[in-house]
Amino acid sequence: MKLDYKNSGVKQSEIDQLVKKLSPYLADLEKAAKDTAYSTPEASLALANDNGLIDQINQLVQKKKSPHLKEVFVIGIGGSSLGAYAVTRALRPSGTWLSFCDTVDNHYVIQSIEHIKRICAEGRQVLINIISKSGTTLETLANTRVLLKTLQDATPDWQKQVVVTSEPESKLTAWAKEQGIDCLSNPKNVGGRFSVMSAVGLFPLALAGVNIEALHHGAREADFNLAAESVAVLYTNLQKGCVMHNMFLFDQDLEDLGKWHRQLLAESLGKDGKGITPLVSVGSVDLHSMVQLYLSGPKDKFTTFVTINRDEGVKVPAVDKALDEIVPNLTDKTLTDIMNAIVEGTKGAYEKRGLPFATIEIESANERELGTFLQFNMIQTMLLAKLIGVNAFDQPNVEEYKVITKKLLAG
Ligand code: PA5
Repeated sequence: MKLDYKNSGVKQSEIDQLVKKLSPYLADLEKAAKDTAYSTPEASLALANDNGLIDQINQLVQKKKSPHLKEVFVIGIGGSSLGAYAVTRALRPSGTWLSFCDTVDNHYVIQSIEHIKRICAEGRQVLINIISKSGTTLETLANTRVLLKTLQDATPDWQKQVVVTSEPESKLTAWAKEQGIDCLSNPKNVGGRFSVMSAVGLFPLALAGVNIEALHHGAREADFNLAAESVAVLYTNLQKGCVMHNMFLFDQDLEDLGKWHRQLLAESLGKDGKGITPLVSVGSVDLHSMVQLYLSGPKDKFTTFVTINRDEGVKVPAVDKALDEIVPNLTDKTLTDIMNAIVEGTKGAYEKRGLPFATIEIESANERELGTFLQFNMIQTMLLAKLIGVNAFDQPNVEEYKVITKKLLAG
């Protein structure tokens, strides 16, 4: 992963000053990354150094994998599903297909029920991975009950086709153990949005065919100092009025990586009247939707352009002279060439207007690079929270909608 912030509008001296200010916490983070006893709030950084974890996941994957396994249904919401979803969308692995049930969407759940029934009727199998750290999330528990009932009606020994990932002492884990269902747990100090490198992300990803060792390898390569420099850039821009961060991803399959990052930034920093509002934009579609505002609207955004190198792919052929001349210079160019030119054109327009931005280049679409990207962003968020002066690891106000919702459901 390459990061470039020469167009960030921040001087090197300002960066150095803030990095110096952050250096005690940076040292804490580096220490936390080695602490596989997971004793600090920053414990998620140690997941990639935990070899025992990979072995545990691989063993359960071996136990659950079978030639009959057709599809894995991941039931979880927010930090319990966004990471695995983002990685599978970005890599499109060729293992078992993962379906994600997060919100309580009638239409989607009906389709899932039908799908499970069909697979079981064909004599094939599904696996349901229920993921909830607290074990009490309303949407997850509602979807669990609907899909489990479907599985129970279709399969006598349904317990073998379920895995619960939750805190060891949650009521959900207790129930699963009583039923003889296999359980995975998450260290107490690893919160949902920081859990992609834990069993929460790794188990479904491994079933999908993602190389989880390589994902961890990449995470171990994330550069703490570079993360601190990037934080200095974001923080300085925040002080200058860039209260929004736009992650502008020039690859449709990376959109969900942007959404994973959106949650990370929003839930970690948005508290006590502080925060950065995260935006997710996808190139080149959003050039035809949002970029008028970005270029000429309020100057309140810092942008990170994210690109990924993929195989060259399709070439634009010559078709008909008159048609080919409407937009010249396209013949024999690959779509990648065209996209690269669009990215440079967009950056050029930002530069001309003096709009601050950084660029991240994911050098290759593989697990190692993505692992680095994910870990880098988690380190960055922790450091940013430190500078802003908020606790990155809680989300106390999310409870407010839950309290009202539960009252309404109680009638
Ligand atoms: O990041 C977080 O902590 C949240 O987004 C949670 O992941 C989300 O609310 C789901 O919670 P749980 O895993 O307890 O079901």
